[in-house]
Amino acid sequence: MADDDARLVALARAGDVDAFAALIRRYEQRVRGVLLRLLRDPRDVEEATQDVFVQAWRNLGRFRGRAQFFTWLYRIAVNEALMRTRRKRPALQELDERLLAAPDPEPDLRDLLVRELSALPFEYRAAVVLRDVEGLTNAEVAEALDTTPAFCLSIASFYDMFHTEPVGRHLVEVCTNVSCALSGAQDVVDALERELGIHVGETAADGSVTLRAVECLGGCGWATVVAVDNHHRLHVRAADAPEIAKSLGEGTA
Ligand code: FES
Repeated sequence: MADDDARLVALARAGDVDAFAALIRRYEQRVRGVLLRLLRDPRDVEEATQDVFVQAWRNLGRFRGRAQFFTWLYRIAVNEALMRTRRKRPALQELDERLLAAPDPEPDLRDLLVRELSALPFEYRAAVVLRDVEGLTNAEVAEALDTTPAFCLSIASFYDMFHTEPVGRHLVEVCTNVSCALSGAQDVVDALERELGIHVGETAADGSVTLRAVECLGGCGWATVVAVDNHHRLHVRAADAPEIAKSLGEGTA
């Protein structure tokens, strides 16, 4: 694909409109998807998508081929979204505030992700969309955002809901930070390891569950805190481990 991109780009740079049209067909959907997630207003997306390809066509002469074509295209798309976001900032802030102020009492994972993304600064949101939705590697995201792979990795590892490795269908996370550690978090970890048949940091061979030890989950006054599929359980004790393991099997976590 990359070789074919390079061939089409070379033809397009020589003025071959059909070659550029082939590149548009290849990447239009992905560019539109990125813009949709960054702009969040479908009314802007079509126009922004067209603008991205117009800019790409006009600036093809500057594309040196050191980066991959699609990461260069993503960079144009992210800049376009950033420019449009800045122009609309007051309205967007209002939307973000509404999303954050009125949380669904029982949000599903999609609601949580939308809310998490809405709360992120633009450049973080762009990194998450490219990495976790578009499937780019940290190096490719860094290339597209003109930043470093370390910056991308720091985002992925900072937010609990984003993972640097695939996780199981269920995710059990035990806070082992100070308050929870003093309240017996290690006993909870040990008990869950026994019940789930895996060590902390591992995923079961059948992909059913991942067990992790994590930093503070924000419930220090209710230690030990355990997040089961992002639902927080408070005052968890080692004796609760069998019930937690059972609830995973029943899909009631
Ligand atoms: S230390 Fe465990 S929730 Fe804060």
